[in-house]
Amino acid sequence: MKANIEIRKEFPFINQGIIYMDSAATSLKPNCVIDSQSEYYKTMTVNVGRGSSIHNFNTTNIVEKTRNTIAQYLNITDETQVIFTQNSTDSINMVANGWVRQNITSNSNIVITQLEHHSNYVPWIELCKELNIECRIVPLENYEINYSKLIEYINEHTLITAITGMSNITGIETNLEVVTNRCREVGSKIIIDAAQLIVHKRIDIQQLDPDFLVFSAHKLYGPFGLGILYGKKNLLEEMTPVRYGGNMVSYTSNLTNIHYKDIPFRLESGTQNPAAIYSFSSVFNFIKDYDIEETENYIKGLSTYLIHKLKEEGDIIVYSQPGSIISFNIQGVHPHDASQFFDEKNIILRTGNLCASPFFANLEESGVIRVSLGVHNNIEEIDTLLIAIKEIKGFFL
Ligand code: ALA
Repeated sequence: MKANIEIRKEFPFINQGIIYMDSAATSLKPNCVIDSQSEYYKTMTVNVGRGSSIHNFNTTNIVEKTRNTIAQYLNITDETQVIFTQNSTDSINMVANGWVRQNITSNSNIVITQLEHHSNYVPWIELCKELNIECRIVPLENYEINYSKLIEYINEHTLITAITGMSNITGIETNLEVVTNRCREVGSKIIIDAAQLIVHKRIDIQQLDPDFLVFSAHKLYGPFGLGILYGKKNLLEEMTPVRYGGNMVSYTSNLTNIHYKDIPFRLESGTQNPAAIYSFSSVFNFIKDYDIEETENYIKGLSTYLIHKLKEEGDIIVYSQPGSIISFNIQGVHPHDASQFFDEKNIILRTGNLCASPFFANLEESGVIRVSLGVHNNIEEIDTLLIAIKEIKGFFL
């Protein structure tokens, strides 16, 4: 791993004295991503998949090359199984309304967990309400998925199990092997929300073998406005587009007889975001220099120290285990009241229910203070955070 001082130079945002501890909300953007986004507009600009100039040809090529790079990174054999979407939420809604809606029957159920982010919770709840289908919500035990309940809830009537790969509150990784094995046993499809996992673990699609997997580019050092949907080929081919329009049509044989292109294009209606796709392609060069395991061990070292110090305080509830995300509460202090103290020290972190309110259903607290670490963080920053926590306690308690 490069020295921390070198790594920090890659991320211009923090070179203004900012302590960035909100990587779970969005990862920092390295220079290559920022520069390539502007390079697209300065030197390429034209639209993709249309126009016949050499420029149109080149940009269309860039988009397709990036699709291939993403497929290689995730060990997907067929790049047509990589669909460009707007973000993880968009990808999940596409599966909910484009595949599940078409295949559900009145005795089907859908399984989700109490650990889900709203993006992998609300679409399923609303679909089940609308179609009067049972939605089974696996409860938590000690802030983690209760796996024995999960196995009980997923049965032969489960059409799909929608589950996070890593909680955005606790940072705890889901045991995906247990979940996928159970799904295979009873014939449930599985969709994995990898929004948090993607930057912390090298996902191998062939090994993991999910039916669908989604993430957003901005969680993996990439730009906003770009999501990825992976799906098994037969399932993507069965999917009904949730949006209709340009770019997806092959030809129309009369005024109303529309023939659509094959996947991926049939599911990518409208103008793509080629500048985002181009800048996302630079991420894969950037992360080539990082050994994920080494990076994760480094982050784990920082969080082990932080959790140890938090527990020493005696009045702090910690919901996480050592890892990239550490959520906690200072007893007697509302997380939102604490925010101002972090802000004064130029520390960016997130407080509140973190768009995962089901987590709090059985707790007294309705939110947390969340520190989410990245490769750029260091021990001095953790010490500054600890000073802020002492000040908060001094002020409120
Ligand atoms: N899902 C993002 C977070 O946890 C936005 O902050």
